[in-house]
Amino acid sequence: MHPYYAIHTAIRDWYAIHGRHDLPWRQTHDPYRIYLSEIMLQQTQVGTVLERFYFPFLERFPTLADVATAPEEAVLKAWEGLGYYTRARNLHATAQKTQGTLPQTSTELEQLPGIGRSTAAAIACFAYGEAVPILDANVRRVLYRFFRRRTAKAPELWRMAERLFDPEHPYEYNQAMMDIGATVCTPKSPRCSECPLSAQCRGQAHPERYPAPRRCTTRPIRRRTFWIYTDGERYAIHKKESRLLGGLYGFVQSEVEIVGALLGEVVQHYSHFSLNATVVLSDEQPEESVELLTLAEIDTLPLSRVDRKVLEMVSSHQKNAIKNGIEYFESSNGYNKF
Ligand code: ADE
Repeated sequence: MHPYYAIHTAIRDWYAIHGRHDLPWRQTHDPYRIYLSEIMLQQTQVGTVLERFYFPFLERFPTLADVATAPEEAVLKAWEGLGYYTRARNLHATAQKTQGTLPQTSTELEQLPGIGRSTAAAIACFAYGEAVPILDANVRRVLYRFFRRRTAKAPELWRMAERLFDPEHPYEYNQAMMDIGATVCTPKSPRCSECPLSAQCRGQAHPERYPAPRRCTTRPIRRRTFWIYTDGERYAIHKKESRLLGGLYGFVQSEVEIVGALLGEVVQHYSHFSLNATVVLSDEQPEESVELLTLAEIDTLPLSRVDRKVLEMVSSHQKNAIKNGIEYFESSNGYNKF
C-alpha cells in the first residue's frame, strides 16, 4: 500500500465535496482548452481569467489550428490586458509548431515553447490521464508546509511532489492539490482544521514559517516620457521589440524629457519595476521608425495596458480640442492622471 494511502483518500474525499468542479477547464478533456487555461493561469488568477479572457479567446480561436493560422498580432490582440505577453507569443509558436495538434505525453509537451514541466504535466494529466504530479505556486506552498521545509530548490521540490503524489487518482489529486493551495492552505491564515492533509502535515503548528517568507523588495521606478507626435490627423506609433512587450504596438517612450504640451501622467506596475511616465504632445517627429495612424486605427492594434491608458488620454484631449475649437498645441488645459 502507498505510504500516503490515508492522505490520498482524505484528499479525494475533500475534492469530491469542496473541489471547484464547475471550472470550465475541468468540464472538458479537450487538450487545447486545458492547455489554454493552464497558460492563462500561469501568472493570472482564476477569477480574472474566467471573467474577462478565457471565453472571449475561445470564441475568437475555437481550436488550436485557428491559433496556428492566425497572425501573431491577432493572438496578441486577444491576449490584450492579460499581461505577460510572452505567453501569447509562445502559444502562437506552439500552435504553429504542432500545426494545431498537441502531442499526448508530458515528455513531448515539455519540448514546446512556453510549456515547462508543471504545465506539461497538467495538460497530460487533465487531458489524457497521465499519472504525473504538477508543481505550481499553490501546490509548492502545500508541499513546503506538509514536509516542513523553509527553503528548497526545484529538484528537491519535484522529489517532494513525487513522494506525496497519488498515482492511482492523478486527475483528482492534482486538481485537489491546486484547490487546497488556493482555498485552504493560503499564504496568510491557512485553515488547517479544514485541510485533508492535516493528519500528517508537519508544518501545521507554524504554517506561516513554511516556506521562509521572501524578503520584501520594493520595485524600482522607471521614469519615462511618452512622446506623442501628430501631423494633426495621425499619430506616431511603433511596434515594440522588448522581451516584455515585443509584438505589441505603443507610443514612443523617451528617457529624456520632451518639450511640448503636457497631457498628463500614467503609472503602470510591472513584475520588476513601476513605470511612471508623463505624456507630452510634441511637434517634433521621433527619429525611431514610426508609422502614422489615426486614433481609430491605433485602437484596433494590440496595445499594452499603459499604451491603452495613453491612447485614452490622447483621445480625450483630441475630443476636447475639437469641441472647444482651440488650437491643438495650446489646448492642454490641465493635468490628467490615468
Ligand atoms: N491553476 C493552474 N491550473 C489550474 C487548474 N486546472 N484549476 C485551477 N487553478 C489552476
